[in-house]
Amino acid sequence: MRVLAGIKPTGDALHLGNYFGALRQFVDLQEDYAEPLYFIADYHSMTTVRDGEQRRRNTFNVALDFLAAGVDPKRSILYLQSDLPEVCELTWILSTVTPMGLLERAHAYKDASAKGTSVNHGLFAYPVLMAADILLFRSELVPVGQDQKQHLEMARDMAESFNHHYGCEALALPEPYILEDAAVVPGTDGRKMSKSYDNVIPMFAGKKQVKKSVMGIVTDSTPVEDPKDPESVVFQLYNLFADPEERKAMVERARAGGLGYGNVKKELLDKLLDHFEPMRERRAELEQHPDDVADILRTGAARARAIATPVLEACREAAGLGTPGA
Ligand code: ADP
Ligand code: TRP
Repeated sequence: MRVLAGIKPTGDALHLGNYFGALRQFVDLQEDYAEPLYFIADYHSMTTVRDGEQRRRNTFNVALDFLAAGVDPKRSILYLQSDLPEVCELTWILSTVTPMGLLERAHAYKDASAKGTSVNHGLFAYPVLMAADILLFRSELVPVGQDQKQHLEMARDMAESFNHHYGCEALALPEPYILEDAAVVPGTDGRKMSKSYDNVIPMFAGKKQVKKSVMGIVTDSTPVEDPKDPESVVFQLYNLFADPEERKAMVERARAGGLGYGNVKKELLDKLLDHFEPMRERRAELEQHPDDVADILRTGAARARAIATPVLEACREAAGLGTPGA
């Protein structure tokens, strides 16, 4: 089973939603699947980031995040999307079998146009590029957060449509892989954690900033001595770092009353800092060796290309493209 996922280098520090909804799953999947493909979606970032230097910096930072979080370049194939321009050819091929109506229903485009933001064609076609990322490798399992499920369904539709039109099996249908217990990580205000809502707890920020975000988590005004709702945001976030026994104990303490939200936040903060400390150290070390990071990405691109080439060839062949031997 081929696993593949990507993260956009948009320049924002990764947050707990990105970690539990995406990165951690990437790391765990290395245990169960051979050669998962993980990539930095720099072409995708072009719909919003318009500064080349900035993109290069962001890309390096995401590479560090991946590696620090435990993506192991020996077990996984880590590459930069734009090192495989083949993905753009498949994007075009897919776009010719994708109805406009399908893309008009995509959340990202709908939200942007509802807000009155001027929408570029790249944003409109974003799901096609994402489908090409996936289908280029006949990926079957794609670990993403809940919010990306629609894109995955579109990728399936495009694969089916291409295979149907050209009477072939060149493309495989991918499945989303969504971790149920971490499906949506809430932000400090109780809405989905997202950089767009200014409610994030960053993974690798300085301790002071992390502390500030944790202490800012919304709570209600239940007095300390009263029972607390063990489902409320601060407990949900605590649970992400707790083992089953700790979770159970926390539910009991919440129900019993006498537990202040401030204490829960403090315990959450300690757990969170402990959890990310080894990664923070690894990241700082890697940051000193940009050439090693570039080597990892170059090797990854070569390995990814070896998988992609036969798939793209099969599509070109089915679609009657190219002169044989040219
Ligand atoms: P943001 O919502 O902050 O803009 P992105 O859209 O860049 O985050 O998301 C990158 C990855 O992290 C995606 O796979 C997405 O599904 C996942 N993700 C983002 N926020 C959350 C969240 N609150 N809970 C679970 N997964 C999330
Ligand atoms: N659209 C994804 C996001 O916003 C990033 C992405 C691009 C991706 N291509 C992908 C994720 C292919 C999984 C598979 O998070």
